[in-house]
Amino acid sequence: MVLTMILIPVLMIVISTPCFAALKIKLGVVTKPGSAQNIVAEKFKALIEERSSSKIKVKVFHSASLGNETEILQQLQMGTIEMGVITGGPFDTFDPIVRVVNYPFLFKDNDQADAILDGPLGREIFNSLESSGFKGLCFSENGFRNLTNNRRPVKTPEDIKGLKIRVMASALHKTIWQSLGANPTPMPWPIYTELEQGVIDGQENPLWVMEVYKFYEIQRYMTLTRHVYSPHLDVASLKWWNTLSKANQALIQTAMADAARFQRRDNREKDAARLVLLAQKGMEIETQPDINAFRAKVAALKDMELYQNPKVHDLLIRMIQ
Ligand code: PAF
Repeated sequence: MVLTMILIPVLMIVISTPCFAALKIKLGVVTKPGSAQNIVAEKFKALIEERSSSKIKVKVFHSASLGNETEILQQLQMGTIEMGVITGGPFDTFDPIVRVVNYPFLFKDNDQADAILDGPLGREIFNSLESSGFKGLCFSENGFRNLTNNRRPVKTPEDIKGLKIRVMASALHKTIWQSLGANPTPMPWPIYTELEQGVIDGQENPLWVMEVYKFYEIQRYMTLTRHVYSPHLDVASLKWWNTLSKANQALIQTAMADAARFQRRDNREKDAARLVLLAQKGMEIETQPDINAFRAKVAALKDMELYQNPKVHDLLIRMIQ
């Protein structure tokens, strides 16, 4: 009788606990520990290992040890790695729908970006990515991108003329900087040496990059252009995803969404202190560039070839509204 009273509750716990099959996940990012991508990746690892009682194990491959972002995406397509936290830019060549989220001056602030990307329009992007072999889980963030250079202060597009600016491997990013009058140079990450040696005059990225990669050592001028909101797409290999049990899929999806929410908050909370630090380190920061003039230069982009694919154009118009 006593034995039955002990065994029944134990059995009920065992039966009601979802069964997570053991898994090993390789997750690729191109930036180093302490960067925005790694914060998402490490948080995801901590959450999933705790919630699966270590049945699911994650190994984060940082600093491009699995290759650049295009190469990580190719490995995800083949199913030779399982997950990645990837910037929007390099997705461009796999599925042009991702161009929509990198459209210049699309979002006015973080709240608007979250509302759209976490809602039905964001899901349309992830649904589309399935035909290229990616399972989109959620959006974490790189953040709003700003221009730095080592030649001169930039307040208006006139000041950009002829500057050699490194851009991500993306037709859209190249076109944005051509429209602004720069000489854009696509280059994979990392780019410290190229900036230091003057192979390029400048680059554009969110504030955390200038801090974590110490760009204040080699870039004198920064302009808060906030020209593109740059999300990370937190994705899995669809080939691999389809082999998982429903319980494992749900656990991974929820852990990644929680990690993304954590990282977006963390990134935003740190931005004010970053600006102070970068100024203390000697950067000259233009906080009030002529944004209307920048907008005007890129206004024709939505009518260009890049956005003429009907699916891409239709989603862009709905996002702009
Ligand atoms: O400029 C880039 O390539 C990206 O913004 C970076 C720095 C790799 C972060 O995802």
